[in-house]
Amino acid sequence: MDELIAKEIATQSGVDPDDRLEDLKAFDDTKAGVKGLIDAGITSLPKIFIRPADELVEELNLGRSQARVPVIDLSGIESDDQHKRIVSELRRASEEWGFFQVVNHGIPESVLDGMIDGICKFHEQDTELKKEYYSRDQLRKVRYESNIDLYRSRAANWRDSLTINLLACNEVEPDELPPVCRSTAIDYVYHVTELGGTLFDLLSEALGMKMDNLRAMECARGRTFVCHYYPACPEPDLTLGVNKHTDPAFLTILLQDQIGGLQFFHDNQWTDVSPIPGGLVVNIADLLQIVSNDKFKSVEHRVLANRIGPRMSVACFFIGVAVPEKIYGPVKELISDKNPSLYREFTVREYINNFFSRSIDKSGLDHFKI
Ligand code: OGA
Ligand code: NI
Repeated sequence: MDELIAKEIATQSGVDPDDRLEDLKAFDDTKAGVKGLIDAGITSLPKIFIRPADELVEELNLGRSQARVPVIDLSGIESDDQHKRIVSELRRASEEWGFFQVVNHGIPESVLDGMIDGICKFHEQDTELKKEYYSRDQLRKVRYESNIDLYRSRAANWRDSLTINLLACNEVEPDELPPVCRSTAIDYVYHVTELGGTLFDLLSEALGMKMDNLRAMECARGRTFVCHYYPACPEPDLTLGVNKHTDPAFLTILLQDQIGGLQFFHDNQWTDVSPIPGGLVVNIADLLQIVSNDKFKSVEHRVLANRIGPRMSVACFFIGVAVPEKIYGPVKELISDKNPSLYREFTVREYINNFFSRSIDKSGLDHFKI
């Protein structure tokens, strides 16, 4: 199936389909990812990474925004005044921006730095050890791969990722985590899970619902941690760290190092999400846009490739529970005659199938719109 899609995409882009498929497979078979290409000393971009000509032209015509993503200070959350301020800032940011950063979120900097350090160690360890984790099997709890949509995208992205999937079970099984990042990942998972719970409570309030409403829908339970490594790139203008996409989850909490490159689409322009020391990026993802019936916005974002690197980031996707029969749709409380439902109801199975049958730069919302 993947092969057919890869060939079809190559044909549409005017590339020889057999050549492209062979190149993709050869790259995949190295199990060494983009980092492996750099280690091998390449100085120009392999064809599979080069963005299609129409995209490169379109890029030249796009403006760059100077807008600054909202920064929300979570300190003093226990006091009524501050709590009110925080909920109102979160509401505004989620409605108008879809992206914000949080500071004074309670996670010690040592835990954040430790996580980045552990991810660096994972990606930079001996390739033979790392290869044991290389897999495209979505059911594997801990796996490493380059480009989750390698065979479905028009151009491959300049990044490798380690995925730690905590969907089916609530706890991390220490033995399953790679030894080089085991203890730092356990600390980070614990803290981000706590922060996620707090944010869902605040977001419920911001939607005008009871505080535990989103938690009761189990939004905060299933989490997938995707730990990205974006190597330095010899020709950054020809490719991307990750193509534009929205996240297939309720909410994403992202830890990034200080290099930068993350952008989101705001007012028809790409806007930088500049790193703040100790800050975390939060974005509304597709499922929260759906359950909020478009009150909150899931916004397109991407990462530029960079001559400087590696850049590292860790996305925690709050995905909800992976029960195939579970049904999602706009929350009834938010629907009225004036505010009719914009999405039909659908099962988790349907949602997951939709994600794995498209390239990540295609909308995850359209399929469910009424
Ligand atoms: C993602 C993502 C951004 C980054 O993993 O979905 O958008 O900065 N990551 O790595
Ligand atoms: Ni994303």
